[in-house]
Amino acid sequence: MQAYPLYRPRRSRRWKWSRELFSESKLRTNDLIQPFFLLDGKNKEVNIEKMPGIQRYSIDRLFYKLEEIEELKIPLIAIFPCLEDHLKTNNGEEALNEDGLICSTIREIKKRFPGIGVMADVALDPYTNHGQDGLIDEAGNVINDETVRVLCKQAQIQAEAGADVIAPSDMMDGRILAIRKTLEDLKKTDTLIMSYTAKYASAFYGPFRDAVSSKLEKTASKETYQMDPRNTDEAMREATLDIFEGADMLLVKPGLPYLDIVYRLNASFDMPIFSYQVSGEYAMLKTAVMQSMLNEKDAVLESLICFKRAGSSGIISYFSMQAARWILDLEK
Ligand code: PBG
Repeated sequence: MQAYPLYRPRRSRRWKWSRELFSESKLRTNDLIQPFFLLDGKNKEVNIEKMPGIQRYSIDRLFYKLEEIEELKIPLIAIFPCLEDHLKTNNGEEALNEDGLICSTIREIKKRFPGIGVMADVALDPYTNHGQDGLIDEAGNVINDETVRVLCKQAQIQAEAGADVIAPSDMMDGRILAIRKTLEDLKKTDTLIMSYTAKYASAFYGPFRDAVSSKLEKTASKETYQMDPRNTDEAMREATLDIFEGADMLLVKPGLPYLDIVYRLNASFDMPIFSYQVSGEYAMLKTAVMQSMLNEKDAVLESLICFKRAGSSGIISYFSMQAARWILDLEK
């Protein structure tokens, strides 16, 4: 490379058109995945206190949003249930109810909006009265192999209901292989698996737990199965396993504080890597916006392009629909 003054980096930044021409990363609406929180019943739209601007919807209300999802060309949605307390049990049996909130919603969506991809979460935390992602023994430890068996059944009914992407967020060992075998046995050979490969035990999930009315006690933690935020080699081992076990997409979660993990996985594996800009990240940005400390459009679009620059194929974000409107210039 030439040195100054032969090379002047500012030349490429001089004009809007030249900045566009020289841009290395692009954010399109089809890079975005929108999560939705679901409620039983009709005509319900309930605010989530810790996620200002995000609501939980009953299915009839969700349909209005899905019309927009189609218009905005957002390819995939992720759905999470918010159950009433009386449906939550020690073993989370409601997770296996074929006529429960998630499976019936998947069937309805696929009937009315066959062109929208639907991703279903595999984990027990919205269904257990202790809020852990799996079954627990008497001492309260999450037991791996028994949990995996239940998760396979949960994945099975979701796939049978029509879920396009099965997304195990539970972090049990061996669950990708077990779920892949389950799907093969069902002849569900087209069902994708988005593995939460590097899901860290993070403080940034707080508002989500509010959104699904999780019963996890303040003193409880998920550190025996979610990853240690201090580690990166461990993410490489998790990725190696998940690819070997039959995952189609690898997810890193949380988002912005973990872009080094995205970068490293993307450099090391020829697999699509996805990011989850989680509830706590949403809350931080939104709160700063509400206090007029940040410009929402600029800050949100910058945060999303950073995922692309780091190597994410796509991003799960609570800002997806809003960002898509900005990208398509439907809203200033
Ligand atoms: C639970 C699950 C969590 C999230 C997605 N799936 C929370 C947790 O692990 O406690 C967090 C998403 C977010 O914070 O936006 N299986």
